[in-house]
Amino acid sequence: MISKEKIERINALARKKKAEGLSPEEQAEQQALRKEYLAAIRGNLKSQLDNIRFVDDKAPESYSPEEKAHVEALSDKLGREYEAQKDMGNPAKPEGKAGLEMVETMNEHHAPLTDWALGYIDFHTDDHVLDVGCGGGAALAKISTMVPDGKLTGVDYSPVSVEASRKHNQMDLDSGKLDVILASVSDLPFDNDVFDVAVTFESHYFWPSLADDIKSVYRVIKPGGKLLLASEIYQYDGLDAKALANVQKYNLNNLSKAEFETLFVDAGFKEVAIHTKEGTDWLCVEGVK
Ligand SMILES: C[S@@+](CC[C@H](N)C(=O)[O-])C[C@H]1O[C@@H](n2cnc3c(N)ncnc32)[C@H](O)[C@@H]1O
Repeated sequence: MISKEKIERINALARKKKAEGLSPEEQAEQQALRKEYLAAIRGNLKSQLDNIRFVDDKAPESYSPEEKAHVEALSDKLGREYEAQKDMGNPAKPEGKAGLEMVETMNEHHAPLTDWALGYIDFHTDDHVLDVGCGGGAALAKISTMVPDGKLTGVDYSPVSVEASRKHNQMDLDSGKLDVILASVSDLPFDNDVFDVAVTFESHYFWPSLADDIKSVYRVIKPGGKLLLASEIYQYDGLDAKALANVQKYNLNNLSKAEFETLFVDAGFKEVAIHTKEGTDWLCVEGVK
């Protein structure tokens, strides 16, 4: 929980920044406070906001109308700021500091799914592997250990993700084993038939034209090569209502197993296998070109 005094200080710094600018010390203080604020808020927005409303020992009913109005207004403002920060973090295209923090968090949170899905690939030690929508670069780091004599290429259309992936894999970048390229899946800057394996984790939700974008990845895979697509959610009858609401709210591509199969077959993949994991909503599609 973050104290009322700190929130007031955040607001005071924001006002001063607008009016006259901040000194380097104040800028550092503002950044530290924002980080603390975001960490507190991220845990559970609703309960955090409730806590902020009644942060002192006074019982809520003993607030004067003015105090109540002030605290409500502050709370609303924090909610709006949080939404703005969240939008900046935007998983569809990470942006700014919030985006960087988000891709670093995703590196951890997506590790179990990534490990599970990578278990479906028998890499050759010298494979050239493409990761589309590589985010913070954790999957590239994992794959690097599986292709010690291979090559890695990450692609993402977010400059923040490209930078994060590069940093996360600095040694491979320096040695020339890895390249991370700013590009959209819809317009991959590679010749036909280049990659032994292409992977994509938690990214297809956001692709602008999924059928064409799968074809775009198909084009750059070698004949006999493989595309592995993994996600933490797919469409099925029992899908949790909250998950479904998010799919609608954020307009995510969320396909059923049958729809994925059709998509891969239509793109040209000769063999398609679809795996799900019991007790989760995880899905992994393998297509062999
Ligand atoms: C939710 S993150 C997943 C990142 C990473 N694969 C992981 O599992 O942690 C989605 C990533 O896909 C990228 N992305 C979304 N749409 C894309 C597109 N059309 N072309 C390239 N990258 C895209 C985003 O910029 C973001 O970095």
